[in-house]
Amino acid sequence: MMRSNMKPGKIVKKYKLGNQEIIFRYPKMSDIKDLLELINNLVKEKVYIGSQQKKTLKEEKHWLENTLTEIKNREKVHLVVEVNGKIMGNTDIKKSRMAAEQHTGTFGIMIRREIRGTGISERLFKAIEKEAKKVLKIKIIKLTAFTANKRASAFYKKQGFRTVGRIKNGLKYYGRYADEIIMVKYL
Ligand SMILES: CC(C)(COP(=O)(O)OP(=O)(O)OC[C@H]1O[C@@H](n2cnc3c(N)ncnc32)[C@H](O)[C@@H]1OP(=O)(O)O)[C@@H](O)C(=O)NCCC(=O)NCCS
Repeated sequence: MMRSNMKPGKIVKKYKLGNQEIIFRYPKMSDIKDLLELINNLVKEKVYIGSQQKKTLKEEKHWLENTLTEIKNREKVHLVVEVNGKIMGNTDIKKSRMAAEQHTGTFGIMIRREIRGTGISERLFKAIEKEAKKVLKIKIIKLTAFTANKRASAFYKKQGFRTVGRIKNGLKYYGRYADEIIMVKYL
């Protein structure tokens, strides 16, 4: 069976948007500074994501090393978005570890404000979904989000997810309880 190579930095899509060159590719260790800037930019914006505190270089390095290992082991697919050479977003789908759940994976996405509403997120979702089918061979994508993150849930709905549940106070947003929604997409 042909197995796709999972080399760090592998490009899966490249296109032009006006005068910008957009690249979707797997991450590599030398992305560390850009990825640290990305997460800390979103933390600063106080978007509705799990990370609510700035990361240190050491923490980010640990996370990236882990991510590269998971990609190599085909436990995760992960793409970064480069716009004219700068990382402006990322997305991943992680296969569940439990034997009974290995046909499912958990999805996450974050895009810097400057490139929201440009259609990049939709193309990025299609690309990560395709990687997940090919590499992880999963059948169901799951996600959870802050109920208050209306932009994200509208985006997920447009990508074919449907809401299957809600957990009252399932999350915390800067120390306060917040409601969580659970969405799924069958591939
Ligand atoms: C979630 C995210 C990836 C979506 O990407 P995006 O480029 O912003 O999404 P799009 O603009 O393609 O789609 C969002 C949709 O929600 C709509 N929308 C925008 N603000 C909205 C709001 N306050 N309430 C309801 N819908 C809203 C948009 O109009 C758009 O729908 P349309 O295409 O039919 O007009 C991106 O906003 C992001 O990364 N946000 C910050 C991090 C984050 O929240 N990640 C998700 C964590 S669960």
